[in-house]
Amino acid sequence: MGALTVVHPVTVFDYSDIQTAFRTMQNGLHTGKLVLKAREQSVIPALPHDAHPIKLNLDATYVLVGGLGGLGRGLAIYLADHGAKHLAFFSRTDHVQPAARKVLDRLKERSVEAKIYVCDVTDPMALKRAISQIGIEMPPMKGVIQGAMVLRDGLFENMSYENWSQVTAPKVQGSWNLHELMPQDLDFFIMLSSLAGILGNGGQSNYCAGNTYQDQLANYRRSLGLPGQVVDLGAIEGLGWFEENKENLKIAETMRNLIIGEEEFYALMKSAITGYSHGDNRVPTQIVTGIGSGGLNKANRAAGAHTDYYWLNKSPRMSYLRQLDLHSTLQAEEDDEMGELKGSLTAVTTLAQATNLIQNVVASKLAKSIMIAMDEIDINRPVSSYGVDSLVAAEMRSWCFRDLKADISIFELLSGNPITVLAEQIASRSALIPQGVERERAT
Ligand SMILES: NC(=O)c1ccc[n+]([C@@H]2O[C@H](COP(=O)([O-])OP(=O)(O)OC[C@H]3O[C@@H](n4cnc5c(N)ncnc54)[C@H](OP(=O)(O)O)[C@@H]3O)[C@@H](O)[C@H]2O)c1
Repeated sequence: MGALTVVHPVTVFDYSDIQTAFRTMQNGLHTGKLVLKAREQSVIPALPHDAHPIKLNLDATYVLVGGLGGLGRGLAIYLADHGAKHLAFFSRTDHVQPAARKVLDRLKERSVEAKIYVCDVTDPMALKRAISQIGIEMPPMKGVIQGAMVLRDGLFENMSYENWSQVTAPKVQGSWNLHELMPQDLDFFIMLSSLAGILGNGGQSNYCAGNTYQDQLANYRRSLGLPGQVVDLGAIEGLGWFEENKENLKIAETMRNLIIGEEEFYALMKSAITGYSHGDNRVPTQIVTGIGSGGLNKANRAAGAHTDYYWLNKSPRMSYLRQLDLHSTLQAEEDDEMGELKGSLTAVTTLAQATNLIQNVVASKLAKSIMIAMDEIDINRPVSSYGVDSLVAAEMRSWCFRDLKADISIFELLSGNPITVLAEQIASRSALIPQGVERERAT
């Protein structure tokens, strides 16, 4: 009879490496035991609990206006994936393009009833007819996604009235007609609008106007106690008009990291349908995507873009977004900058060298505090000439004390002395400067 021995070797993986552990086991090439060990620092990939999953009603009809277009086709499958059994497509024509035919076939294979209603939503009579026909042929309507769009770009001064109306009509009259004629007891009423309405877009004044109308209609519906949601989409890759036309579009480098993919689009639509983003957070009436933030702008620049998200600097409305995600990046940068400066200051041999170093870092601190570009700071001007208020001055004072080890009063900071002189004052008092350095010019 043989003796049992302890299994060996024992290979220990941290919980953070759980994927590698399972892959190793899957390969079947290992011997011995694989052990997972949890430590306080372990980071475990986990799917967050979905507090508000989509619950579509099997016995309801969901209406997709312009639903045979790019986003509508994707949404039809998405709704079917989440339990929808009856879909009504509103289209101006019954001529079904191959891409739409494919989607209709896929829906049929999954036993989803999908009917096309020829209906121009800008025509209230046609819409009424479609709605009453659905009432006869399909289960009650419980949700609508309005994605009707026509594009006729051109400079405003050259735009014909016809081009103006063709573009605004599906979004303005079309959305209003849906608001008036669709049943009131819907679970959701979602309009697919565009970021162009928020930022403006040269050559698309008609489209922008139509989109801003939809933004306000959503607010109006909510004020009446009705469901109302608008999603202001930026460019989407993988499906929709942008995807189908991107070969012919000149995509600005500013947009590079702002384009969202299919998965992100569906995640947004899930929030629009359920009314919740993550956890128990309710989504606001208007969801905007692709607009960027200070942090994303920075990341885009770091990836080689030559221009900034100009719109973030264009309007005070953007001041929050301009700072969003930026703080942590700025803090890390500032820490690096200060670390380097401290090293250099301890090695100076003259007050002039220290002053030189400090005037640059004061200019940089000032630029960040009042959120302007560093090259807009002139070190021959006083700090006070940049409109610095007492709060910023107090912040700069404590920064001088903490990081430069120099006690400077708010009065000195806001005096009429140029930054060069202020830097000299700081240098002459800074405990970071070696003992032997002559400080005779201290004031
Ligand atoms: N794709 C993107 O990247 C993107 C970005 C920003 C915003 N959006 C918004 O998302 C929505 C959908 O975009 P998409 O990419 O799916 O566009 P799309 O492929 O051009 O689809 C829009 C559809 O609207 C239908 N339509 C136009 N006028 C209509 C009317 N009066 N009545 C009924 N249907 C009408 C058209 O279908 P018929 O010819 O069959 O009637 C067309 O196929 C639009 O509202 C757009 O503003 C999209």
